[in-house]
Amino acid sequence: MVLDVNRQAPREPKYYQVKRHLLQLIDTLPPGSLVPTERVLTVELGTSRTTVRQALSELVGEGRLVRRQGSGTYVAEPKIAWLLHMTSFTEQAAAAGYSASTQLLDAVRERASDDIAARLAIKPGAAVYCIERLRLADGTPMAVETSYLSAARFPGLIGHVRKTSSLYQVLADVYDTKPVNADETIETAAASPREAELLNTDTGSPMLVLGRHSFDAEGEPIEWVHSWYRGDRYVFVAKLAAGH
Ligand code: GLP
Repeated sequence: MVLDVNRQAPREPKYYQVKRHLLQLIDTLPPGSLVPTERVLTVELGTSRTTVRQALSELVGEGRLVRRQGSGTYVAEPKIAWLLHMTSFTEQAAAAGYSASTQLLDAVRERASDDIAARLAIKPGAAVYCIERLRLADGTPMAVETSYLSAARFPGLIGHVRKTSSLYQVLADVYDTKPVNADETIETAAASPREAELLNTDTGSPMLVLGRHSFDAEGEPIEWVHSWYRGDRYVFVAKLAAGH
């Protein structure tokens, strides 16, 4: 038997009532529809502007509404569903019907911190490549990825990723290496000014951060990477099967 200890609904904050009202309105409107202004909603709902603003901001953060500077607030397009697979960004994009491209933001050789060294099974202070890339789908910025790979294992990697947009392609073609499994984590974070600018969003807006620790068939670690996606635009889908 499951005891329902929370039977009594907690008192609902005023802004949340406004939010529920707006959610009902959003459900009746097609994407791209203009929603009433803060001022109109304040009068219509007989509440304060701060309360309306809080409700609108949450809906923007959740990807239900979009704000366009100087124009207004609109019902957002549906989010993009992105399957979690042991594949590259390039292949994932193609499977979803997009063409992937890459902008190399930074690529340096540096000394591994204790954490990165442990991830890559190398000695702390050993050389690693840190590669930061902006990933685009049909020309729209989707994610910022920062990857760490062992420099001893992948000599000359930076030169190759300058020429080829897919890292997994380089790993296969140049180093005869293929990631076959990975631990993938997903957590939330607030966009830094840099990510916000690269991904056309506001500083502090919610992001989904994927961490991938990938391994080859022998169980040797290949890459430790963090990928920052806009939390208001993506839904990550994992297919689960019993018995795994
Ligand atoms: C995904 C993974 C990253 C990996 C990348 C490689 O985005 N989350 O860990 O680095 O794919 O993709 P590509 O071969 O397109 O560069």
